[in-house]
Amino acid sequence: MRIAVLVSGGGTNLQAIIDGIKNGTIRNTQICMVYSNNPGAYALERARTAGIPTACISPKDYATRDDFNIALLQLLKEADPDLIVLAGCLVVIPESVVRAFRNRIINIHPSLIPSFCGTGYYGLGVHKKVLERGARVSGATVHFVDEGTDTGPIILQKPVMVRDDDTPESLQRRIMEEAEWKLLPMAIDLIAQGKVSVDGNKVIVAGYDSDILPGITGEEGR
Ligand code: GRF
Repeated sequence: MRIAVLVSGGGTNLQAIIDGIKNGTIRNTQICMVYSNNPGAYALERARTAGIPTACISPKDYATRDDFNIALLQLLKEADPDLIVLAGCLVVIPESVVRAFRNRIINIHPSLIPSFCGTGYYGLGVHKKVLERGARVSGATVHFVDEGTDTGPIILQKPVMVRDDDTPESLQRRIMEEAEWKLLPMAIDLIAQGKVSVDGNKVIVAGYDSDILPGITGEEGR
């Protein structure tokens, strides 16, 4: 399976995918392109180090948003991925791209959807809102991307307990370690193995075993 990974920032989830492919956790998969809207994204450095082709176009480089959207669609079509993975991508995916890659785009979101998601919920802000609300549990969600913001069919979720002394930073880090860096590679592998299908707004994962998920642990140091 060919995947294009779309990023905007540090790229720890991209690194988890690169590592997962290398160590065999993600099978039958290659990254055909890493795209970023942000030329300064450290994720691009990670891609170059791993020898993966990179592409960088920003809405700022185009006269109108439509022009950018056309260029992005063209770029993705040329890369010809079987799956597009949004791994911390802050660009709103245009409807034309969602239509061209229906049920072939996945996103990782750092909360348990439908809580703490939607427009404006990104980065540290998500974890800030969780703490402000006094929620006792948060986590991460991998879902298919549809025309809405964080509204597409849910593939995998993993809860992470909130601690009394958490800061947005500490909660963000623990959700990455305990959930995101395992959940996203796992979802990609399941899709590569042909085990994931979509039925309306529900996802069917062949052989899904919820007991496996609470046991997964993160890796330090990404
Ligand atoms: C992650 O928290 C991810 O869930 C969210 O954006 C962040 C990206 O982090 N969508 P990184 O660039 O993968 O380190």
